[in-house]
Amino acid sequence: MDEVDQIKERLDIVEVISSYLTLKKAGTNLKGACPFHNEKTPSFMVSPERQTFRCFGCNEGGDVFTFIEKMEGIDFYNALKLLADRAGVKLENRSVTRGEQEFKSDLKTKVYEINDWTKKLYHKILLDHPKAEHARQYLEGRGITAKTIADFELGYAPESWELLIKFLEKKQYTKDEIVKAGVAIRNDRGDIYDRFRGRIIFPIASIMGQTVAFTSRILKDDGKSAKYINSAESPIYIKGKTIYGLDRAKMAIKEADNAIFVEGNMDVIACHQAGFKNVVATSGTAITEEQLKILSRYTSLISFSFDSDEAGVTAMKKAIRMALKNDIASKIVALQGPFKDADEAIKSDPKNWTRAVKEAKPSLEFWIDSLITKSPDLGVIAKKKIAKEILPVIKSIYSDIEKEYYIKYLAQKLSVSEKALISALEKTAGDKEISNTKKEEDKSQAKITLPQKIMAFIWIKPELLGKIKTDLTAIYDSELLDFSAQIAKKEINKEKLNSKEVDLLNQYEIVLRNDYDFSDEDAINSEFIFMLKRIELEKNDHIKAQYAAKIQKAEASGDKAELKRLLSEFSALIK
Ligand code: GTP
Ligand code: MN
Repeated sequence: MDEVDQIKERLDIVEVISSYLTLKKAGTNLKGACPFHNEKTPSFMVSPERQTFRCFGCNEGGDVFTFIEKMEGIDFYNALKLLADRAGVKLENRSVTRGEQEFKSDLKTKVYEINDWTKKLYHKILLDHPKAEHARQYLEGRGITAKTIADFELGYAPESWELLIKFLEKKQYTKDEIVKAGVAIRNDRGDIYDRFRGRIIFPIASIMGQTVAFTSRILKDDGKSAKYINSAESPIYIKGKTIYGLDRAKMAIKEADNAIFVEGNMDVIACHQAGFKNVVATSGTAITEEQLKILSRYTSLISFSFDSDEAGVTAMKKAIRMALKNDIASKIVALQGPFKDADEAIKSDPKNWTRAVKEAKPSLEFWIDSLITKSPDLGVIAKKKIAKEILPVIKSIYSDIEKEYYIKYLAQKLSVSEKALISALEKTAGDKEISNTKKEEDKSQAKITLPQKIMAFIWIKPELLGKIKTDLTAIYDSELLDFSAQIAKKEINKEKLNSKEVDLLNQYEIVLRNDYDFSDEDAINSEFIFMLKRIELEKNDHIKAQYAAKIQKAEASGDKAELKRLLSEFSALIK
């Protein structure tokens, strides 16, 4: 058995894809929102039986390797390597063929490997090298336990210009590869040196847990050096698309249906150590739309916990706008008391965190409330100023219900009439940052014709066939010939259908399950009967149109006999 088969035997596609998004049961298959295109209504389907996935919105599909290739933006060899690691299969060769094509270990493979070796080296140094003594003391002083150090594979880069480079060169990597991996720097003269020196090392992982980069913290703020330094971007590390801690947080995020975004790496670690595992952070950049979209594959709610300083408030407003733009529900977790961030609040008492999360307000409420709190007297000038800041945001909210809610909310908080706000809203330009993307969405949703819909109902619930009293020939689709024939014979046998039809019917099933609750027997029965009536009517319309054309022709040509025949035939048919 070759490696591909071994991996396929050990890994379940459902489990792999579930690392990237939430899948829900839909009959024998699973469905979810497609990670490859923008959609709210799921048209992405995974078949546990066939170990394949397919999106009938954007038409992506394939096996577990194809999924990883698309998702991670890597080729077959690197996808194979990633899944081999996960399955505990050892890859013997540096090249592999799939179909006719050969795939080889390439620069990306090496960049992954270099990051992995770097992590291992720095972690080992932190654990037992004499030079890391003050780093161990520093972490202990911040309350980081040995278990957390092991879990997060924290490390220490000693004060050295070439320790890492020498280590990696011994492993046969070239200077050029080491620089491209983002862990070393090349200066103007062409010399290269270690990027991280005298710093605590935090490995940054991909969703699947591969090390793709590092962030690092100096031990003592000296007022000169940057407190944190990150790896350079590399073929496997795009800052705006990477979320620190997501590899460890993803399952907890799904479970809580809440992803909490904090500002710092240390905050993520403190939260996880205290058992709050649905917490993530960016690394060295502001939150991006990309990151919100990634998180929304796991959860319907994103919570933001920002520092309460001015930079934190600016970041918060930007994040709220981005969430609104993408129609993602968000809340603000506000820490009570003198705490600067989650790390400090939890160190003082983990209950500070639990309470803040529980009392989190919907983002825009929080925004409005914080403006009101800042102007306690709330004169007319203050009211106008607040309205000026908030109205453009309200104007750009996609959901009409939510919009109305916030108009009421703001009117009440400002003690002005809703009418005044609505008329002000009409004069307001919408927030340019929140141009809605949602309206363009879902146009890729599969369109189902009425006969296809009826057939899919029968596919899901074959016993519905018994409800059909009339002619079955209208329940026909040129792409579902076998199934149409089975329906005409009133004999459903799913096993005898060809796989193309099964595939199509599975897709329709997903679409219908988005719209109908198939456990509600009565509702399903009456909907089915309603559809049968409609198809009957449509059939008549079709006949009428046909006869109208023929009759017109007979009239024009003055063929009285033909006209008479047509008229009597027609009246018999539509009785
Ligand atoms: P600690 O001081 O270790 O508790 O970290 P912190 O997370 O509380 O630090 P701070 O609030 O100052 O910064 C929040 C986050 O911004 C950090 O976790 C870093 O990711 C990032 N950051 C802070 N300082 C720098 C810097 O000098 N350079 C870069 N690139 N990022 C920084
Ligand atoms: Mn901190």
